[in-house]
Amino acid sequence: MNLILMGLPGAGKGTQAERITKKHDVPHISTGDMFRAAIKEGTELGTKAKSFMDAGELVPDEVTIGIVRERLAKDDCSNGFLLDGFPRTVAQADALEDILSSLGKRLDYVLNIDVSKDQLEERLTGRRVSPTSGKTYHVIYNPPKQEGICDVDGSELVQRDDDKPETVRKRLEVNMEQQQPLIDFYEEKGYLRNINGDQDIDVVFEDIEELLKGLHA
Ligand code: AP5
Ligand code: MG
Repeated sequence: MNLILMGLPGAGKGTQAERITKKHDVPHISTGDMFRAAIKEGTELGTKAKSFMDAGELVPDEVTIGIVRERLAKDDCSNGFLLDGFPRTVAQADALEDILSSLGKRLDYVLNIDVSKDQLEERLTGRRVSPTSGKTYHVIYNPPKQEGICDVDGSELVQRDDDKPETVRKRLEVNMEQQQPLIDFYEEKGYLRNINGDQDIDVVFEDIEELLKGLHA
């Protein structure tokens, strides 16, 4: 099962990835999560990525492509992978074609979670995350059992640095610019499947599962 989850910031990629990877045994590869981990660890990659992320800009292609190339070559990807937030530019999509063909892999689906634009800002500014378990919540749409506290490990929930309103607007603008050419790229190759992301989290997941059934058949 070789999948890409695509969608604008706040579309629900991470939320659905959590459910998909729990059900199907494939690694969740989120370039955003990889950059955040590198920033936390203070590595050279983290230093490179931080200024772009804080500004709501994309991290340069050569940096991003490099980390995905390394990650997809790891053993745990032998039965499949779920890419979240990569590729985000046509240059990245082109590079991914080369990476996959050099590894003897091919894509199954590119799931494009489509959410109306006016929802996204609210989803992002209301998001809270656990710094330790990584679990994502929303103050209204997906609240923890106890306000401000992670259900999984009891840690205090925080807001992502790039979820402040000014950065959110910039991220949406930057990603919207890249979105259509990528959709066209995968539509032409026949991989694209649109998912209505304007529904409850569980209903979106049911729609994804319905599609994935076709892969096992
Ligand atoms: P990344 O971490 O990937 O951020 P993003 O693309 O902006 O997407 P998000 O993680 O914000 O949203 P999501 O779709 O995962 O939504 P979520 O499930 O959390 O990237 C961060 C940065 O890293 C980028 O800005 C860039 O700088 C850099 N970067 C990463 N990849 C890169 C690349 N390939 N190239 C270059 N740079 C790259 O949900 C959001 C909220 O909504 C949550 O609170 C959730 O609970 C709620 N929610 C989810 N689904 C629903 C629903 N159906 N109904 C109601 N609420 C919902
Ligand atoms: Mg995410």
